[in-house]
Amino acid sequence: MKLRSVRGTHDIYGSEIEKYNIIKEVVKRNADLFSYNELETPIFEFTELFSKPLGEQSDVVLKEMYTFKDRNDDLLTLRPEYTTPMIRAAITNNLLNDLPLKLYGLGSMFRRERPQKGRYRQFNQINFEVFGSYDYFVDLELMVLANDILKSLLPNNKFKLNLNSLGTKDNLIKYKTNLSKYFEQKKSQLSEESRNKIDSNPLRILDSKNDDDKEISNTAPTIMEFLSKESILHFDEIKKGLKFYNIHFEENHKLVRGLDYYCGTVFEFKCDNLGAQDTLLGGGRYDGLISSLGGPEIPGIGWAAGIERISMLMELPNNNNAQVHLAITDEKFKPHLQKIIKYMKENQISFYWNYKFNLKKSLSKANSNNISNVIIIGENEFNNDFFTLKHLKSGEQFELKIDKVKNYIDDKS
Ligand code: HAM
Repeated sequence: MKLRSVRGTHDIYGSEIEKYNIIKEVVKRNADLFSYNELETPIFEFTELFSKPLGEQSDVVLKEMYTFKDRNDDLLTLRPEYTTPMIRAAITNNLLNDLPLKLYGLGSMFRRERPQKGRYRQFNQINFEVFGSYDYFVDLELMVLANDILKSLLPNNKFKLNLNSLGTKDNLIKYKTNLSKYFEQKKSQLSEESRNKIDSNPLRILDSKNDDDKEISNTAPTIMEFLSKESILHFDEIKKGLKFYNIHFEENHKLVRGLDYYCGTVFEFKCDNLGAQDTLLGGGRYDGLISSLGGPEIPGIGWAAGIERISMLMELPNNNNAQVHLAITDEKFKPHLQKIIKYMKENQISFYWNYKFNLKKSLSKANSNNISNVIIIGENEFNNDFFTLKHLKSGEQFELKIDKVKNYIDDKS
């Protein structure tokens, strides 16, 4: 059997893992700034945690969940998203006694989608959630956080914030009924896929990629006609706040999101440089979800970002290499090498040695690794207790006693 990885999965190594580590650091720094606590949940849960809340007619539940029977016949699912597991964890660990509860987490999600650029079957998400406040300040804070994190990871990319309000649950029910009626009248012009959603999930027709569907959606009633006064006020305050923070946004009344639990504010950050899978981050309010899972009647809001998609756009700084390359010409001089390694360790200087004894190959490896400082250990160095330091960029070479090495490296770095 040919050894291969499962379609839609990928290994993370080299520059990608460096990017992951930077992403984790930036997320933690921003989470600390706004006082969010980290929470990690198991990778699998009981299937029922996902099926109803995400929407029995949603693509995720209908086609994409990795579900299996455990030996005792429990139906389990690899988590396709993090919001419902976070709520489950908050309820089962009694974390909802002290509100608001502000949580974040990073981890792998699983969806059996058709793999393509930026779309995997196992992918990683950054996730932020706040349980227990209706205040528009929370919506705003989460968008500011999202914007700050994306800006610090992707300083050279432009992203767009799309914003919509789906109103209260009641507003949304009225809107859905109205939309179904509208689409019913246009049924013959809709794609087959959308026709099947007229009753079950009319909101999803609004973000269909089919050209005929798009045209019909353009003249469909918009949610704005159905929003309550409070919802409009809430939405207006968010927009004012975004302007205060200089965060550019576009109102997009067709933005409905793919999971069923949303109401109120919904938003997405998109980036043109990503191709078809252009959404970096998405989220919104889900008032009513926590109580439907057995928790108290409290609201919730959050977002998730795709780490792979961020990573695709990220540029790494050039300073991730070791500071010094070690080159030794013969096994006999290993005691001298030990000395310098101990010194490097004590002085926190990062180094690389390939466990080989060939000066020419070592120098060319240093070159290809983009390490400019090479410490050479040969017969002369060993016999006379010094180290030759070669700076590859300038070609300069120095013979130094060990205690001078750090100064030289600091000077040349
Ligand atoms: P979502 O829109 O399904 O929302 O996913 C959020 C982000 O995860 C997407 O914008 C994308 O960057 C990334 N993503 C989704 N599917 C894939 C995939 N197959 N491959 C690579 N990246 C992917 C949620 O998951 C909600 N739980 C977000 C949320 C949190 N809403 C409220 N709180």
